[in-house]
Amino acid sequence: MTLCRLRTHQWCFILFNVLLFHVLLFGADLLEEYFLRSLPLSYTDAKTLKIRERARQLNTDPLKANLSYTVSSAATCSNQEIFLLILISSSPENRTRRNVIRQTWGNMTDTRGYAVLTLFALGKPASVTTQLEINEESQEHRDIIEGSFIDSPEMQTQKILMSVEWTVIFCPHARYILKTDEDMFVSIPSLAEYLLSLTQLEDIYIGRVIHQGVPDRDPKSPSFVPIHQYPEEFYPDYCDGSAFIMSQDVARKVFVASKGVPGSVPPDVFIGICAKKAGITPIHSSRFSGEKHISYNRCCYKFIFTSSNMKEDELFKDWKETSDGKDCSLLETYYSLVSCKVLTYIGKFKQFNLDGIKNEVLHFVN
Ligand SMILES: *[C@@H]1O[C@H](CO)[C@@H](O)[C@H](O)[C@H]1NC(C)=O
Ligand SMILES: *[C@@H]1O[C@H](CO)[C@@H](O)[C@H](O)[C@H]1NC(C)=O
Ligand SMILES: *[C@@H]1O[C@H](CO)[C@@H](O)[C@H](O)[C@H]1NC(C)=O
Repeated sequence: MTLCRLRTHQWCFILFNVLLFHVLLFGADLLEEYFLRSLPLSYTDAKTLKIRERARQLNTDPLKANLSYTVSSAATCSNQEIFLLILISSSPENRTRRNVIRQTWGNMTDTRGYAVLTLFALGKPASVTTQLEINEESQEHRDIIEGSFIDSPEMQTQKILMSVEWTVIFCPHARYILKTDEDMFVSIPSLAEYLLSLTQLEDIYIGRVIHQGVPDRDPKSPSFVPIHQYPEEFYPDYCDGSAFIMSQDVARKVFVASKGVPGSVPPDVFIGICAKKAGITPIHSSRFSGEKHISYNRCCYKFIFTSSNMKEDELFKDWKETSDGKDCSLLETYYSLVSCKVLTYIGKFKQFNLDGIKNEVLHFVN
C-alpha cells in the first residue's frame, strides 16, 4: 500500500476497495472450505473397522430375494459402467416436474465420454389413479424407482435409504452417486470435471457440509426428533440433502452402517450418521448451493454445481443457455461469480426484509 500512501489518487483508493471486496467475498468461501475440511476419522475403532469390512464383503444376492419395490426399472443399470448415477427424490404426483428435468439437465446421458444415468426415487402415491399413471410413465421412460411405502414428508429418510439400497444392489458399477431433489438445477459437466480431478478414490462424500446441526425438538413440528431417538445435542457434520455425492464404496458402507440408525432424523442427517459410523468424513464444497437459489448468470451456472428452488421456465432457459457450448474464460467466470454472489445475497436480503415486513403487519393486525 506504499503506492497508495505516496500518491493519494482516488483510483488507488478505489482499486484497494475493489481488492478488499473480492478478498472478503471469496475469502469467506476459502476459509469455510479450510475449516470444514475436518480431519479424517481414524479407522482404529473396532466397530468402524467391522462395518468397513462387512461393506467390502457385502453379498447382495440374498437382498434381491427380499425386495419391496412397487416399480423398479432395475434393468437400466445392470452391467453398465456408469460414471455418475443421479438419483432425484421426487413426489409421485409431480410428473410435470420430472418431465421438465428429463427435457433439461436430466437429459444428459454422457459427459466427456463418461456415462451418466438419471433416475427418480418415489414413494407410493395415495391414489390408485396416480399409481396407474406412474406405471405408464415408468413403462415409457424406464427411469423410476418406487418404494412400497406411502410417500409423505415423514418418509423421506426411508426414500433415501431405498435409493442407497437400490444402488448397492442394482447399480454396483456406478462410480459416483449424486443424490438430489426435484427443485434443483445441476450443472453436470462442471460436477463431472471436478469428480474426474479427484485424487482420492475411496470414501468420497462431498456436498455443502452442515456443521453442528441441531435436532428439531419441537413436538409440533413435522421434523420433530424425540430425545430418546437421538439424545445428542448436535448432529455430526453431514452434507446438505439438496445435493451431495457419494462414491460407490460409501454407498455400501452407509448401507451396512444404517442398521440401528433412527429413521426419524432428516434424510441427509441419516446419511451423515451412517457415514460417521463407517469412518467417513464429509468434504465441503461451496460450489453446492445447499437450499439457496443462486441468481442466474450463464458463466456462473457453468461453474457452480447446483442451485436450489428452480422454477420451470428458469430450468428451460438456464439449461439452454448454459449448454450452448460457448465456453467462459477465467476472467468471465470470475466476474460472473462475483455478480451472482452479490445478487444472491441481495435476493436473500430482500426476502429477509419482506418476511420482516410481513411479520410486522401480522403483529399490527393482531
Ligand atoms: C426380508 O424382509 C423381512 C421383512 O421386511 C426382514 O425381516 C428380513 O430380515 C429380510 N431378509 C433379508 C435377508 O434381508
Ligand atoms: C434429449 O436427448 C435426446 C437424445 O439424446 C434428444 O434427441 C433430444 O432432443 C434431447 N432433448 C432436449 C430437450 O434437448
Ligand atoms: C413439484 O415440484 C416442484 C419443485 O420442487 C414444487 O414446487 C411443486 O410444489 C411440486 N408439486 C407437487 C404436486 O408436488
